[in-house]
Amino acid sequence: MGQLFSWFKRTPPRLQSKDLEGVAAYIASGRCKNIVIMAGAGISRAAGIPDFRSQGGLYDVLRKWNIDVRRPEDIFTLSRFKEDPKPFYKLMSQLYGGSYRPTLTHSFFRLLDKRRVLNACWTQNVDNLECLAGLPARRLIEAHGTLDSQHCTSCGAKCDDRKMKHAVVTGDIPVCEKKGCGGFVKPDVVMFGESLPLKFWLNLPFLKRADLLIIVGTSLAVPPFSFIANWVPTSCPRVVINMEPVWGVGGRANDVEVLGDCDETVRRLAQLIGADWEAQLDALWKETEGKVFQYKEGVPA
Ligand code: OAD
Repeated sequence: MGQLFSWFKRTPPRLQSKDLEGVAAYIASGRCKNIVIMAGAGISRAAGIPDFRSQGGLYDVLRKWNIDVRRPEDIFTLSRFKEDPKPFYKLMSQLYGGSYRPTLTHSFFRLLDKRRVLNACWTQNVDNLECLAGLPARRLIEAHGTLDSQHCTSCGAKCDDRKMKHAVVTGDIPVCEKKGCGGFVKPDVVMFGESLPLKFWLNLPFLKRADLLIIVGTSLAVPPFSFIANWVPTSCPRVVINMEPVWGVGGRANDVEVLGDCDETVRRLAQLIGADWEAQLDALWKETEGKVFQYKEGVPA
């Protein structure tokens, strides 16, 4: 009961300065115990995976291909995919043909978890690099689904991994093998026009516990994911770590913007927090040396 009372009495957190130093001091103070992360494609760029909206990003590539779509986003739209999945698979074959190691930023998430200050990491990425960096599944909300599994868009049947591996190696379109179906198979990533996974919706109430929100490597352009930034308490400090300003964040008293490369910024943050944070960060990143994401690794094409 006393604990419950102290919860209500808690004084809202205030940053001593609205910069990275202020964020570091807040984390180092030990008062910050429920950090929420919102991540996007920018955190995987150093691993060699392009983001969507930057110059040279996926949407630029799609514009150059001159595909018959109104906007490049359309190839990630379910209705368009059902009409013609070719451009999607061409892109998949270019994207996930290689192997990718987690970045320092992914290891920073793991460090927060190890330090027991991470509430949850909400990611829009489907590259599995958070897992490879060692983040446990209970801390990870893959809001835009996963490449791990796949289903037929017509009959809903689960399809085997070999088919998808073959599609990614060759760019061919996988088709459902169920008798009389022949529908297009799609990895279980969330496309525009599809609902987000149940785990996303079930975890929304826990955002109210957040005492620091870190928004990193995302343009925050896609709802409903982008709405999360407004579901943390108004008093919760929010820090944007991104190459460019992010729409919709910056107007609250405790908002901080740190523009630049995320790997450099998280290293600086670890240095500023002090103690052995930077050494631990480096050690965790070193652990990822042999760990690379290879699409359907071990599955023959
Ligand atoms: P975007 O490409 O929209 O945004 C990536 C952001 O990361 C940009 O603002 C970049 O400036 C920034 N960035 C790039 N490299 C960085 C670096 N090294 N350090 C810091 N920041 C960096 O990607 P997302 O926001 O993830 O959804 O895109 C969200 C969703 O849009 C995707 O999940 C996908 C897409 O359409 C669906 O397909 C449903």
